[in-house]
Amino acid sequence: MSDGREQWKSKIGFILAAAGSAIGLGAVWKLPYVAGTSGGGAFFLIFLVFTLLLGTSLLLAEFIIGRKTQKPPIQAYKELAPGTLWYGLGILGIISSCLILSFYSVVGGWIITYFVRSLTGSLTDPATGDYGALFDSIISNHWEVGAAHLVFIIITILIVQGGIQKGIERASSIMMPSLFIIFIILVIRSLTLDGAMEGVAFFLQPDLSNVDGETILFALGQAFFSLSLGVSIMVTYSSYLGKQESLVRSASSIVGLSVLIALLSGLAIFPGVFAFGLEPNEGPSLIFTVLPAVFSEMAFGSVFLSLFLLLLLFATLTSAFSLLEIVVSSTAKNNPKRRRIAAWVGGISIFLIGVPSNLSYGILSDWHIFGDIFFNQVDFLVSNILLPIGAFLIAVFVPLKINRQDLKEELLRGSKLGTGFFQAWLIVIRYITPIAIMAAFLNVLGIW
Ligand code: PHE
Repeated sequence: MSDGREQWKSKIGFILAAAGSAIGLGAVWKLPYVAGTSGGGAFFLIFLVFTLLLGTSLLLAEFIIGRKTQKPPIQAYKELAPGTLWYGLGILGIISSCLILSFYSVVGGWIITYFVRSLTGSLTDPATGDYGALFDSIISNHWEVGAAHLVFIIITILIVQGGIQKGIERASSIMMPSLFIIFIILVIRSLTLDGAMEGVAFFLQPDLSNVDGETILFALGQAFFSLSLGVSIMVTYSSYLGKQESLVRSASSIVGLSVLIALLSGLAIFPGVFAFGLEPNEGPSLIFTVLPAVFSEMAFGSVFLSLFLLLLLFATLTSAFSLLEIVVSSTAKNNPKRRRIAAWVGGISIFLIGVPSNLSYGILSDWHIFGDIFFNQVDFLVSNILLPIGAFLIAVFVPLKINRQDLKEELLRGSKLGTGFFQAWLIVIRYITPIAIMAAFLNVLGIW
C-alpha cells in the first residue's frame, strides 16, 4: 500500500468482519427480548421492513463515506465538510460506541460465565429445574460476573491492538461460519419441541393491533443496532476497503446474513419459550433462561450448549472489536504504539463505565434512574435515542456534502445496477430515512 495504510486482505474478509460487527448480541440476545416485550410478530415485521429499506440504504451511505475518504470517521467528516461542525458526527459515533460496549461487555461476561459453567455441567440440570432462578443467582454473583466482564474486555483489547488483518479478519473468518451451523441445529431442535408452533406464531404472525409509536421507535433502533449503524463503525470498516470492490454487493451480503441470523434466533428462542411455559417478555435474561432449557432436551445437550455459547461469545466479540476499533482508529492514526495505548486506555475506561450496568442486576438493582435500572437506561439511551439520531444525521449529511456524481460513482462502481437504483437509494436516504426517524421520535414524544 502506497500510503502505508492497512487494507483488508480479501473482499470476503471485509464482508465477514463487517457482518461480524453486525451479527452479535443484537440479533441473538436483544432482538428476541425486545420482540418479546414489544409485540412479537408485529415488531419483527416492522424491524424487517426498516432493516431492508432504511438499514441497507444507510449501510451504503456509511460505506460511501468510508471508502471515498479512506479515513476514520472524524477525519472523514472533516475532509468532506471542511470547516464545519459535521465532524461531531464522528464524536457522537465514538461516544455511542463506548456506551454500547459498556453494556455489551457485561452481556459478553454473562456468556463467558455461562460458558465456563456449562463446561462443568452446572447449567443443563439445575437442582430446581428453574433456569430463571439460576440466571438470577448467577448474575448476582458479582465477583464471578465482574471477572468475566473484565476478561471479555481484555480479550477485545488484545485482538484490537493487533490491528485489522491479523486480528479481526482472521478471527471472523473461522467464527462466523461455525455459528451458522450450530444455529441451524438449534433451530431444528426448537421447532420439533412440543408446542413449538405457538412460539413460531408469536414470532412470525404479526398482530398489528398492538403496535404503537414506541414499538416503531424500538424497531427502528433495533434495525440500526443490529446492522451497527448510526455510529460510523461501517465508515471505519469500509475505510479499509479497496477502491474496486462493489459496495452494493457487500451491503447486500451483510444485510442478508444479519437478517438470516435474526430469523434463526427468533426461531430458536420463541418455540422454546412456549414449549417450556416461559414468558416472552422476560427482558434481557430471556435467552439465558430459554437456551439452557432447549439444549437440555437434546441428545448431547451439554456439549451443544457449550459449543453454542462459545460461538455466541465469538459473535459477540466480533461486534465488540468493531466498537473498540472505532475508538482506537480515531485516536491512534496508524501508529502501532499509540494503537496499543488507545486500545488499553479506551477498553479499561469502557469497562469502568460498564460496572454500574453489571451491578444493576445485583446490589444496584434498586437504584433507578428515570424509573429503570442503569443497564436498561444505557441500552435505551443508545439504541433508541443516540443511534437513530446518528442515523438521521448521516442520512442528511451524505446527499448534502457529497456531490451527486461522486455518490453515484461510489455507489455503483463494480456493480451492474444502473441509475434507477441510484435514484431510488437517494430518495430513501434523502427523504424517507430522515422523515421516518423524525416521525418515530415525534410520535413517542406525543407531538405527532
Ligand atoms: N450490531 C451489533 C449487534 O447486533 C451491535 C453493534 C451496534 C455493534 C452498533 C456496533 C455498533 O450485536
